[in-house]
Amino acid sequence: MSSYTAHFKVWRGDADGGGLADYQVEVNDGEVVLDIIHRLQATQAADLAVRWNCKAGKCGSCSAEVNGRPRLMCMTRMSVFSREETVTVTPMRTFPVIRDLVTDVSFNYTKAREVPAFVPPQGVAAGEYRMAQQDVERSQEFRKCIECFLCQNTCHVVRDHDENKPAFSGPRFLMRVAELDMHPLDAAAEAGLDRAASAQDEHGLGYCNITKCCTEVCPEGIHITDNALIPLKERAVDRKYDPLVWLGSKIRRR
Ligand code: SF4
Ligand code: F3S
Ligand code: FES
Repeated sequence: MSSYTAHFKVWRGDADGGGLADYQVEVNDGEVVLDIIHRLQATQAADLAVRWNCKAGKCGSCSAEVNGRPRLMCMTRMSVFSREETVTVTPMRTFPVIRDLVTDVSFNYTKAREVPAFVPPQGVAAGEYRMAQQDVERSQEFRKCIECFLCQNTCHVVRDHDENKPAFSGPRFLMRVAELDMHPLDAAAEAGLDRAASAQDEHGLGYCNITKCCTEVCPEGIHITDNALIPLKERAVDRKYDPLVWLGSKIRRR
């Protein structure tokens, strides 16, 4: 096994401020950035705060920015950097820092609660639901989400614009609205909820100008923009301007 000494810069601080701290640290073959952060904790910085859990790319806890790119630290191999390169690790920028690499991601939980839940169809007993395989596959892609919030962190609508947070749910939760809107058994419309319209009016879909940065950083490879956000935009526009849908909504309201 070969090893070398890498130069790391890690953001240290809390809500009151902080800065980059320099470390020289051992790296061995096959290690990932999270291994190095753990080595720093074990040898040089016992109080370095970092959130992690599975070390397998499945819990979504170890999100951070490595050399400026939003990544899961446990899935970022040290071999993607040259041995001479300084590796800079900073907390996700869009969320308030608690300490060091740990951020307060409660914005996302607030947004999650704002998405109305699946509405079961009336008159079909649980266990008797039937779905076509292609509908299962379509929502399956969205259900791969591990809630790492890297997409939420990256989207420019909120990344440098805290003021947009109340109005914009972000790609992860607009994708959730799209998933429910595409669900063949969701009976929200019968219950008077137009999910595509509410995406536009209540979850800030119009703020998304399809830059696709969210898709680019998704560690699960979910096509957030192409398969969720753009179809949701199309549905919102179709429903708004389709005269039959308009007439139907008027009749339903009576
Ligand atoms: Fe993470 Fe992808 Fe889910 Fe966004 S959609 S929270 S990037 S797994
Ligand atoms: Fe933001 Fe993704 Fe749209 S990065 S602007 S939500 S395509
Ligand atoms: Fe679970 Fe990285 S520790 S995704």
